[in-house]
Amino acid sequence: ADPRVRAVLKLAPVIPVFTPENIDDAVEVARALFNGGLPVIEVTLRTPVAMEAIKAMVEAVPDAVVGAGTVLTAAQMEQVKQVGGRFAVSPGATPRLYAAARDTDLPFLPGVATSSELMLGLEHGLDTFKFFPAVQAGGAAMLSAWNGPFGDVRFCPTGGISAQTARDFLHLPNVLCVGGSWLTTRALLQARDWAAIEQLARDSAALVG
Ligand code: 3PG
Repeated sequence: ADPRVRAVLKLAPVIPVFTPENIDDAVEVARALFNGGLPVIEVTLRTPVAMEAIKAMVEAVPDAVVGAGTVLTAAQMEQVKQVGGRFAVSPGATPRLYAAARDTDLPFLPGVATSSELMLGLEHGLDTFKFFPAVQAGGAAMLSAWNGPFGDVRFCPTGGISAQTARDFLHLPNVLCVGGSWLTTRALLQARDWAAIEQLARDSAALVG
């Protein structure tokens, strides 16, 4: 088990999942989320500027805990570490990715959607996972069922969760926090409505199970 992963997931009830389109806006988003009370931010590696955005966010808001999402390869894992990312999240995981996380010594939150994937993660020494895609893969009922055989495992469900449904997950005993992109939607980013993002963060930071 890597206690650093759980420590990150315990910092706030929600991890905003953010896909940056440019550096300047990424810094504004980091400020808005952090000022709204959400210190942990997952930046997806789905755009060409993502690595540079992580670097800029880390520099501009040093107290935020900025990590990377959609990490698919060992090379990306290494790059995330180099730009100052504090953790790596993946939609799934392979033996190669588990090895890369160990080699880079980066806290790793791999995605799992089945019992066997979870058990592979246990074999690699982890006990904390992203449940992805949470709603599509079985939702809160799936996590409740897993709490029987895997009672020591903890999750950050992500995928299809909204401000309205976050509580359904947060009250589960094996959920530490939830992830979601509802705080940084394309519409909010296009409007450059940092105040609205900060307010959504404030509302999310106040969520309890
Ligand atoms: C992710 O990468 O974790 C998902 O895109 C986030 O899921 P959501 O967009 O349904 O919140």
